[in-house]
Parts: sequence; structure tokens; C-alpha cells
Amino acid sequence: MSETLLDIELRDLDGIGPATEKKLRDAGIASVLDLAVALPDEVAEKIGCSKENACAMVFVAQKALMESGLIDKEFVPAVECYEKRKSMVKCTTGSKNLDSLLKGGIETQAITEFWGDFGSGKSQLCHTLCVTAQLPVKDGGFGGGVIFIDTESTFRPERVYQIAEARGLDPIQALKNTIVCRVYNSSHLELVIKRLGKYIEQYNAKLVIVDSIISLHRSEFAGRSTLAERQQRLNNIVHHLLRIAEIYNVAVVVTNQVQAQPDVFFGDPTKPAGGHVIGHACTYRVYLKKAGQERIATVIDSPYHPYSETRFIISEKGVEDPEPKKTKEA
Ligand SMILES: Nc1ncnc2c1ncn2[C@@H]1O[C@H](COP(=O)(O)OP(=O)(O)OP(=O)(O)O)[C@@H](O)[C@H]1O
Ligand SMILES: [Mg+2]
Repeated sequence: MSETLLDIELRDLDGIGPATEKKLRDAGIASVLDLAVALPDEVAEKIGCSKENACAMVFVAQKALMESGLIDKEFVPAVECYEKRKSMVKCTTGSKNLDSLLKGGIETQAITEFWGDFGSGKSQLCHTLCVTAQLPVKDGGFGGGVIFIDTESTFRPERVYQIAEARGLDPIQALKNTIVCRVYNSSHLELVIKRLGKYIEQYNAKLVIVDSIISLHRSEFAGRSTLAERQQRLNNIVHHLLRIAEIYNVAVVVTNQVQAQPDVFFGDPTKPAGGHVIGHACTYRVYLKKAGQERIATVIDSPYHPYSETRFIISEKGVEDPEPKKTKEA
């Protein structure tokens, strides 16, 4: 797919001359695909053209991709969706329990969100996925690289090394195929996500991890007066991620924090932060919770998974299954 993608240049599109191409490139829109998934408002603002012109450019880019067969035509028989979904690949999380909760593992063409309290295992799971995603497809991996976008400075190469070694894989190779991007503020995150297509091709990545999706926006846009802007910006990020996942057939994993609901007296008074904006774009939402030495994972909001939960543990192998409980001898 990427070979054909690279065949079409921005300047090959109707109405885009060398000057506009340069402006687009300077604004971080370097390929037809970048333009096709850009928001017209942003294109207009960045290159200083009218909104109508920006809409026309995005439309031309989308049309070019459609004609080349790279993205779906808008209306397709469900059987074609079914065929496309068959190109979807699943990757093991390292825990069979968690894999069966996810009906096989982390999927391409989707965003999987793991949310939970501090210490619930979100970052540990992300570190494990850096290793398992590199396994060949026949062994339950994606057979590709991983892009790890670290917003909380919690990525630890030593941990990826340890997990790879404990799983009998070459730790240096695992580190070579894990591309880390440390981001420092919300605008930086937005920029990196906009350029993601380029990096996915460059590093042959099959998995993109954002750990965490919300922390920067949450701390920078504190208070009610900035809530609307924060939600709008988060909305752009997650929708961009979803389009990238679908177009490039990659998996996207994001982590999210919890938000306390002080007015809830019965049941668990926590919910994922970020409100509906994140929930609507994420294909799967998995809630992680500590339970002694184990962790409980619960799937909520999935298009085809029933509500269910399972247990896993965190060990030197990263995420794995708990020892089966010994049954008491009579
Ligand atoms: N090598 C290891 N072996 C066993 N358990 C470990 C190991 N490394 C970390 N852990 C466990 O993982 C926990 C930390 O989990 P993790 O960093 O994934 O939390 P998190 O959900 O990302 O939290 P936060 O919201 O703070 O980012 C530690 O409390 C510890 O119990
Ligand atoms: Mg973490």
C-alpha cells in the first residue's frame, strides 16, 4: 500500500502548484495522505488561504486516494467492509486472558484505549506491546515496528529490554524497532500526531502507542473556561489517530487517566477522563484495575465484544497470565 501511496505527490493534484505545495510542506502536510486527512479549517489557517480553497484541496486529495483505491469509496457493500476487515491483523498483549477478552488481541484499523488509576498497569502493558508487536504474524505479532509517543516521561528502554529478554527475543533488536517520541506539551503532541503518517511509513510501524493521550491537555487546559477548547483539540487528535489507523492498517493504543466522580455513591466512582470525545473515537475501551497482586481488565464500549472481565499480572515478562489457581485437594 505504501509504495502506491508514495507514487502520488502533492504537486500531481489538480489545483496545487509548486508554491502551494511548499506552503503545505512547511505546514507539515507532506503527502497526499496528510492532506486527505487534514481538517480544512486548519489547512486554511496554516497556509493562509480561504476555507473554500482548503476544502477543495482536501477534497481533491481524498478523491485521488479513492481513485487509486487506497481509501474506501464512501458507499461500499458490507461484504467489501468485511473483506477489508479481513486485512485487519491482531497482536497478542502477552496475556492470553487479555487476548481473549479482546477477542484475539490488539487490532489494526482501530484505537484501543486502556484507562485506569495510577499503577493499574497501563504503561506496563504499553511496554509489553513494544515487544509483542514485533513478533512475526505467525507468532501472534504484527511483524513490524512500534512508535511510542511518551507524554509522561515514563518510557523505560530497560523495561523493553527486560521484557524482550524474558520472552526469549533479542533485546537490542526490540529496542531498535521501538521508536520513541518524547513530547513536551499539547501543541507538540498535536504536531507529532499530524505527521504520524510519515513516521509510520519511515519506520514500518504497525503499532502506535500514545501514553497518555490526555495528560498534557488535562494539565494545560485546567478549569471550565478552557474546557471547550481542550475537548475540541482532543477530538481532533483522536479522530486523526482513527483515520491513520484505518488508512495505514496500523493499531493505535492510547492510555487514559481516571476522573473521580464525587457524586457517585454506589459502585466504582471512577470513569475515563476526557468525556465523550475520547470515548466516541476509541473502538475499544478497557478499564484496568488493581486487585492485590493481580490486575482486572474490563471491556466496555465495544462494537462487538460483550461486557466481560479478566485477570492478568505484571512480571518481568511484562503483562502475562496469573498462575492458575490451585484447587484444594479433598
Ligand atoms: N518489572 C516489574 N515486575 C513486576 N511488576 C512491575 C514491574 N515493573 C512495574 N511493575 C508494576 O507495575 C506498576 C506500575 O504500573 P504502570 O506504570 O503501568 O501504571 P500506570 O497505569 O501506567 O500508572 P500511571 O497512571 O501512573 O501512569 C507498579 O506499581 C508495579 O506494581
Ligand atoms: Mg503510566
